[in-house]
Amino acid sequence: TTTIEVGMLGLGTVGSGVVERLARSAAKIEQTQGIRLHLAAVAVNHLNAHRTVQLPIGTRLTDSLTNVVCDRKIQLVIEVMGTVATAKKAIVAALNQGKAVVTANKDLIATAGPELAALAKKRGCDLFYEASVAGGIPILRTLTDSYVTDNVQSISGIINGTANYILSAMAAGQSYEQALTTAQAAGYAEADPTNDVAGIDAAYKLMILSRFAFGQELSLSQIAPVGITHLSASICQSAMENGWRVKLLAQIQQHGPGLYCRVAPVAVPVDQPLSQINGVQNAVAVQSEAIGTSLYTGPGAGSTATANSVLNDVLVAAKHLISGCQTIHNQKDAGTLAVTRFDQ
Ligand code: HSE
Repeated sequence: TTTIEVGMLGLGTVGSGVVERLARSAAKIEQTQGIRLHLAAVAVNHLNAHRTVQLPIGTRLTDSLTNVVCDRKIQLVIEVMGTVATAKKAIVAALNQGKAVVTANKDLIATAGPELAALAKKRGCDLFYEASVAGGIPILRTLTDSYVTDNVQSISGIINGTANYILSAMAAGQSYEQALTTAQAAGYAEADPTNDVAGIDAAYKLMILSRFAFGQELSLSQIAPVGITHLSASICQSAMENGWRVKLLAQIQQHGPGLYCRVAPVAVPVDQPLSQINGVQNAVAVQSEAIGTSLYTGPGAGSTATANSVLNDVLVAAKHLISGCQTIHNQKDAGTLAVTRFDQ
């Protein structure tokens, strides 16, 4: 068994899930992978905040990011603190010291992903972020590994669990406010749910999907997302009575030499699989030349499922650390294509 020293930044919904998942799967990881993940240190904002999660004996709790990022013993840093500027600095510092980094930070990866990936490549480090898109669904790894000989033509997804939860609850008669409060209490919504309901969170995830599927960087302004704040329970219910389900769809498709994209609420006919994705579930429908249409579904948010994605990334990075093998940064780079927003 080889021990990998791990540091974590953040101990909120996802961070707590990582601690719990790690405790539950440690024996299996050791038996099947020959790896012991030792959580050496966790950085938090407030040392004395109330927490229900129990840290393993010997894990250092600190309120200093530097304490974790600059700890020479730590080989791998998990970033689940969720801000952009501070998280970026911490990740840059970790990569500069040759540490592997796993993050769930879609805001940061959507906007600064290429820059961070270039740094990771330069330093020969892994930078993984499977948990940043569609929580528990391994969609980035699937797009990376299973579409190499194929050609993705379009992606249509429900990739914000909070919005889907609210729309499903409104279709069942709940008010917008009631549904949002429940989504927040369940730990699905972001700390500030504005991005969830304004379509911005889904747009960030679409930017990451576009990178993996089309080798194309999109900007938030190209997508110009439309959210769900203007929708009401009665709109969702009358759509339902007429054979539709209102869904916040994130879509991107090849269009001639360019791409079409949008994030907006769409009335989806009930006979289409995406209409049946309810609650916090996410779904990504990938249409490609060789496979045709594949639908990947699963929990898109929530502590345990997201933490599981984080830990899978940690294990892949840990194996690379042990074997000394360098990540092949094989994201496609298609240059710059024309991006047009669908008509509403
Ligand atoms: N707030 C996000 C969502 C969490 O509701 O989908 C997962 O990224």
